[in-house]
Amino acid sequence: MPWVAVRRDGTMPGLRSSQWYSGQDRNAYIHRAWMRRGLPGHAFDGRPQIAIANTASDLTPCNSHLNEVAESVKQGVWEAGGVPLNLPVVSLGETQLRPTAMLWRNMAAMATEEMLRGNPIDGVVLLGGCDKTIPSLLMAAASVDLPAVVVPGGPMLSGTFRGVPLGCGTDVWRLSEEVRAGQLSERDFLESESCMIRSRGHCNTMGTASTMGLLAEALGTTLPGTAGLPAPDSRLLAQSHETGRLAVEMVREGRRPSDVLSAGSFRNAIVALAALGGSTNAVVHLLAIAGRLGVPLTLDDFDRIGADVPLLVNLQPAGRFLMEDLHRAGGLNAVLRQVRDLLDPEALTVTGRPLVDHLGEAEIWDPEVIRTREAPLQPAAGIAVLRGNLAPDGAIIKPAAASPRLMRHRGRAVVFDSIEDLHARLDDPNLDVDEDSVLVLRGCGPKGYPGMPEVSNMPLPEKLLKKGVRDMVRVCDGRMSGTAYGTVVLHVSPEAAAGGPLDRVRTGDPIVLDVENRRIDVDIPQEELDGREPSRALLESVARPLRGWERLYVDTVMGADTGADLDFLVGSSGDAVARESH
Ligand code: FES
Repeated sequence: MPWVAVRRDGTMPGLRSSQWYSGQDRNAYIHRAWMRRGLPGHAFDGRPQIAIANTASDLTPCNSHLNEVAESVKQGVWEAGGVPLNLPVVSLGETQLRPTAMLWRNMAAMATEEMLRGNPIDGVVLLGGCDKTIPSLLMAAASVDLPAVVVPGGPMLSGTFRGVPLGCGTDVWRLSEEVRAGQLSERDFLESESCMIRSRGHCNTMGTASTMGLLAEALGTTLPGTAGLPAPDSRLLAQSHETGRLAVEMVREGRRPSDVLSAGSFRNAIVALAALGGSTNAVVHLLAIAGRLGVPLTLDDFDRIGADVPLLVNLQPAGRFLMEDLHRAGGLNAVLRQVRDLLDPEALTVTGRPLVDHLGEAEIWDPEVIRTREAPLQPAAGIAVLRGNLAPDGAIIKPAAASPRLMRHRGRAVVFDSIEDLHARLDDPNLDVDEDSVLVLRGCGPKGYPGMPEVSNMPLPEKLLKKGVRDMVRVCDGRMSGTAYGTVVLHVSPEAAAGGPLDRVRTGDPIVLDVENRRIDVDIPQEELDGREPSRALLESVARPLRGWERLYVDTVMGADTGADLDFLVGSSGDAVARESH
């Protein structure tokens, strides 16, 4: 059968890459000649050109093994009759990038989108892992709408410290708080450093990377059975090989992100997010991906669809185990099979078949790690969306990671105008704070920081830690690491730097959190709140000269409640390029 790409209307226009390679004219000559360099002549005889959008980078250590994954993808592409082409794309290392990798998510998505559109490719395999890499790749693929399939790079193996498993991220927060509380020596703390990262792969807790890898599969964008495979597991390479083959098939059949990613796919992702106890960061990423496709997804959908979904997976930070355990216990399919009735039966995957068709009879092999529907860890664990005079456009909280006793709470605000202000005053013995206080941090939204960093799970004051306090209500317009825990109200929208009411809260104001009724309010007369001037210290902290990407970002980024994408990137642009290059 000749290679063709089928349009949605059933016509067969031929491969997109033939716009570059077919013909006898000068331009076709140039496009072929410069690409030869060892490729056989038949590479351009109508074979699908499959880009491998590769986020391998030594500065994204969670993704540094992806070149090996790419080799397996290449073999699969060749085997299926396509031509694999490595395409290094912007890579974002969560632990290294300043001021926050989130500032660069949209840049990575935009750059990848343009490279996919501008090059002679027919389909793409997306290799990601570390937190922002899969979201940015999916946003790019959705925008170009070329056949696309994800290979999640997989989590690292479980490390141990003194016989106890160490969860990446989660245990950093825990151990560092133990040092501040005087329960762990600095020497022991530093000794644990070399134990935390046991192998290649991304963080092994149910943090953002694990969440987004698993949600990529729940969305239908991976070869089923791939997400959650540990990075060093040889089966990841076998699945990568098969994914290469699948990419060629997808081009032949014209199966595009707009065919795979429907409202039902996002429903499935939200159900999975809740059952897994996944990262709150998935909210902004799923909203942004949906926005690129024009799928009508709103913040309230996370509460409407996910709030009553039971928590089935006992992984840090909400629970006890790590990603290697989840895979051993049956993996994503075993989890999804338990909530099969909540999934959209028609939502497709990249295979062309519905997600539910791939669940089969997936078994739970360790009920301590994956609970049954009848015996969940929590009966209702999805993300709750809060509103109130503190967050008119919404805020979120992850009940699974919060303290039940604080889900209804009233306390006086202790306000910090910036992360620097927090660091300067938090441990001051004279800070007027007690365990009932509500810590408020502002200036950390998309425009304010800029980039919406993971600072919402602010540390507790040292004097309270020493008294044994381990959780307090915290309110912030930033994000929280997916590996973190605590009673944290985050993504407060509108953010303070965009004129949200958070900018007028003062230390001493009573803050009322009521998760059951989905409220977050400052209990002062509305006229008083409206009549106040924004905090001068806040305005000073967010005012800075900007150039380059930061300037474009701050001028055009939208709120967290819609995914924090740039306003001009919403909606798909397709794969057409109007002009030849010469
Ligand atoms: Fe890369 Fe956690 S730092 S996944």
